[in-house]
Amino acid sequence: MKKIEIRLGQNSYSIEIGSGILSQTGLKLKALDLSDKAVIITNPVVQKLHGAVLKQSLIAAGFKTIILEVPDGEEYKSLESAGKLYQQLAEFGVERSTPILALGGGVIGDLAGFVAATYMRGVPLVQLPTTLLAQSDSSIGGKTAVNHGKLKNEIGAFYQPRVTISDISTLKTLPAKELTNGLCEVIKHAFIKDEQFFVYLEKNLDLIKSLDDNGLETIVAKSAQIKATVVESDEKDMGLRNILNFGHTVGHAVESVSNFRVAHGQAVSIGMVAAAKIAAESGIMDYETVPRLINLLDRAGLMTKLPQLEVRQVIQAMRFDKKALSGKIRFVLPRSIGQVFITNDVNPVLVEKVLGGMI
Ligand SMILES: NC(=O)c1ccc[n+]([C@@H]2O[C@H](COP(=O)([O-])OP(=O)(O)OC[C@H]3O[C@@H](n4cnc5c(N)ncnc54)[C@H](O)[C@@H]3O)[C@@H](O)[C@H]2O)c1
Repeated sequence: MKKIEIRLGQNSYSIEIGSGILSQTGLKLKALDLSDKAVIITNPVVQKLHGAVLKQSLIAAGFKTIILEVPDGEEYKSLESAGKLYQQLAEFGVERSTPILALGGGVIGDLAGFVAATYMRGVPLVQLPTTLLAQSDSSIGGKTAVNHGKLKNEIGAFYQPRVTISDISTLKTLPAKELTNGLCEVIKHAFIKDEQFFVYLEKNLDLIKSLDDNGLETIVAKSAQIKATVVESDEKDMGLRNILNFGHTVGHAVESVSNFRVAHGQAVSIGMVAAAKIAAESGIMDYETVPRLINLLDRAGLMTKLPQLEVRQVIQAMRFDKKALSGKIRFVLPRSIGQVFITNDVNPVLVEKVLGGMI
């Protein structure tokens, strides 16, 4: 088992990563001085696969436990779902010290986190992420949110959990496409912050794809550590945390121009290749690094070429992105593997040339 401490003053907590540790959740919570009730928020898919182990562990540790289910899907990460959950929490008699346990991927983590942050102005939150994306990225850092109309993730709160328990054995039931999605975040973290980890991924990707325990534990721990370090220096997303958006400038535009037919992980992968090519073409990064990135993304099953989209539309969408500053497109660009910086100073003609060459 690996343990990562995330140091955020009073909001500090630990992230525990290991195989089979979901069954120890009850015992771990007992040490936190909480009420004798616990609420699990999950969806029917995850509940069926992993709910019983968790519930059993809580009951064995003396918690009166209920499971609240939200239907599966991003569309249920909404204020409406939050409203239904508030009602159920009230009916169960939740108190200020009753923990909410978010068992699922990023959708459940964001929604249950938002509910925990807002119900009674905050009840204890425990993140139990079950997708690779959630274990390596979304469950760390305290961003909780719901979507509202076209406002994706715009209604939310920074709210840190009391503990995060990442049981890597839950990843063994993940559909292949979700594993691929998560690998995008893992490769992104390695590329922006840790060259040695990138080399580890180059050497061990096949092992990881075969769901080897050591491989999974290593990538989740390394990735979580990188995210934790970035969050420690910028908890409220005022600057440095933006480097986590590597690949997102083109990625978001591809998602939106494709009407979300291109999945988030796939779009970010395309975006990372574009950013690397822009850096290489500008003489900021060695050109030889670009094929290394493309090769690793390809092997992970991620897209590295632009699908049939109008390049000009993609550029237009980047200009209108909420992160663009007065029409200037903001990029996270690499200097080398492990080092990136944020800039508003990329020539749109170069962006068009690079994207044009990626079809
Ligand atoms: N808070 C943050 O910092 C942050 C960061 C990145 C992404 N996000 C959010 O995360 C969400 C995406 O998360 P995701 O990719 O985990 O998607 P998800 O939560 O929708 O999970 C993907 C699918 O996998 C299923 N699933 C989950 N665990 C499983 C398991 N162990 N076995 C089998 N199936 C399982 C889910 O039911 C779902 O169908 C988005 O809403 C995004 O906005 C948040």
